[in-house]
Amino acid sequence: MKIIIQTILALITFNIVQAQTLIPIPDTLSGSTINLFIAEGSKQFFNGFNTNTIGYNGSYLGPAIILNKGQHVTMNVHNQLTDTTTTHWHGLHVPPINDGSPHNPIMAGATWSPSFQVMDKAATYWYHPHLHGKTMDQVLKGASGLIIVRDEEEAAHILPRTYGVDDIPLIFQWQTLDNTTKQIVLNDELDNTTLVNGTINPYVNVPAQVVRLRMINASSHRFFEFGFSDNRTFHQITSDDGLLDAPVALSRLLLGPGERAEVLVNFSGQAGQSYYIKQYGTQLPAGYPGGPAGMMGGPLGPLDNTNFDLLKINVQTATINPVTSIPSTLTTNTVYSSVGASNFNVSITGIPPMSMTDFLMNGVKYDMDVINMTTSVNNIMTWNITNQSMMPHPFHIHGNHFFVLKVNGADPPLNLRGRKDVVIVPPNGGSVQLITKYSDYGDSLLPYMFHCHILSHEDNGMMGQFIVKPDGFLGLSESISVSDKILFYPNPVNDLLYIFIPGIDVHSSISCKVYSISGSFVLSATSMNNSSIDVSGLLPGQYIVQIVSGTYHNSFTFLRE
Ligand code: C2O
Ligand code: CU
Ligand code: CU
Repeated sequence: MKIIIQTILALITFNIVQAQTLIPIPDTLSGSTINLFIAEGSKQFFNGFNTNTIGYNGSYLGPAIILNKGQHVTMNVHNQLTDTTTTHWHGLHVPPINDGSPHNPIMAGATWSPSFQVMDKAATYWYHPHLHGKTMDQVLKGASGLIIVRDEEEAAHILPRTYGVDDIPLIFQWQTLDNTTKQIVLNDELDNTTLVNGTINPYVNVPAQVVRLRMINASSHRFFEFGFSDNRTFHQITSDDGLLDAPVALSRLLLGPGERAEVLVNFSGQAGQSYYIKQYGTQLPAGYPGGPAGMMGGPLGPLDNTNFDLLKINVQTATINPVTSIPSTLTTNTVYSSVGASNFNVSITGIPPMSMTDFLMNGVKYDMDVINMTTSVNNIMTWNITNQSMMPHPFHIHGNHFFVLKVNGADPPLNLRGRKDVVIVPPNGGSVQLITKYSDYGDSLLPYMFHCHILSHEDNGMMGQFIVKPDGFLGLSESISVSDKILFYPNPVNDLLYIFIPGIDVHSSISCKVYSISGSFVLSATSMNNSSIDVSGLLPGQYIVQIVSGTYHNSFTFLRE
């Protein structure tokens, strides 16, 4: 009897709270100047409950930034939080100084304005905060948004691309919402809710034709095993950072935190019908968060290892010029040859072995002052990542795409054979081999990050950093000790650039030579330690400063606004 009453109560509660809601389509921003305002807000996920959130240009999530390959863009990120933040352009090929990593903090009240050329191929990227130790906090509360890059190659194909009509952004998230207060709980291991575009119990309307869905797993912790309620076949056309060689037919799509996929779904002739995108949690591999228990024990979240509806899809009449077929080919991805490549090995372990939150890479945790690997511009490098822990880790590298060569020693599935920036490393001795090449943006001092994209793992130090040295640039690369600390501020700078070398007497004189990013000498100046040089005469852009004080020498890059 008790159970029956509880069930009835649960059903009533479900019906009262869970009215189906049309998902919002995020606004778009485009052009050469993008203004983002990150701020605290509040949102009613459940009627009558104000949930505290963080969003960009709104209370939860952010606008979709539409960029064209080749264009220049200046991003003005205005930090209206009471806390420091950073904004990372996940997947975009930008120099470390513009990457929005933990090394590019934006203080409360400040504006950060990185400026760069869009060098990436058409695909769906995203942006989110990356302040070390606070990433999960800020992202879970809602701070993230999509970046859609368009290019001529993609435009030449007959593909759906009318944003919000037949080209639909779908931001899938797991969340933990407190049962009583409906506040976002910063414990991603207990996720009890899924959202699409910030909406609970969501639906979307699509036309009866081929539709493109831009899908992202923007969760902190859990994996999605997507499929349709009628088990239909759909076609994946992009991996994280670009088109696949050809559409890949799938009935299930696995996305780990941080991964994206664009898929084509053919709803031709199905007007008036409704379908669901479902989570097939029972079909996730054992030990994958959201799926059946692995060696670490039973499922922790109430929705783990279950199949349930994520998003209702109502098919409506077709548009006037519908796309009705799936292209047969898309692009040619040319994977670098690994012959003669250098190797970097990453070994993932848990501490203790059963831990769900504490993981090491090569035996260490992240330290902002330690460089874990150094490569140089144009160096082709294979990364061999092995996972001795009992759960999978979505491994992400900043600054450039990579190609997956092997998963557990075998050729990767077809939908992992395009440009990627996150790859799932399977548990219990699993491995991934991938290959990278950084063709430009060498920086002797500022690193790029590599890390697990489970945000609690990242915040707990499952992250490392690497330097891409400018290849033979000014002969500087050999002489630099990256462990030498140097402070310079502000950056970007308008006029006075302050330089401080800790450990050197404040009365020492420092001689500075400033070079443009292409290597031409532009300015020489002398400063006292902890004083400034005047760079107001320089044109806006990125510069490299070589500094010498007695036997001490070093270099760094800065941006003149
Ligand atoms: Cu999406 Cu280093 O992050
Ligand atoms: Cu990233
Ligand atoms: Cu991890």
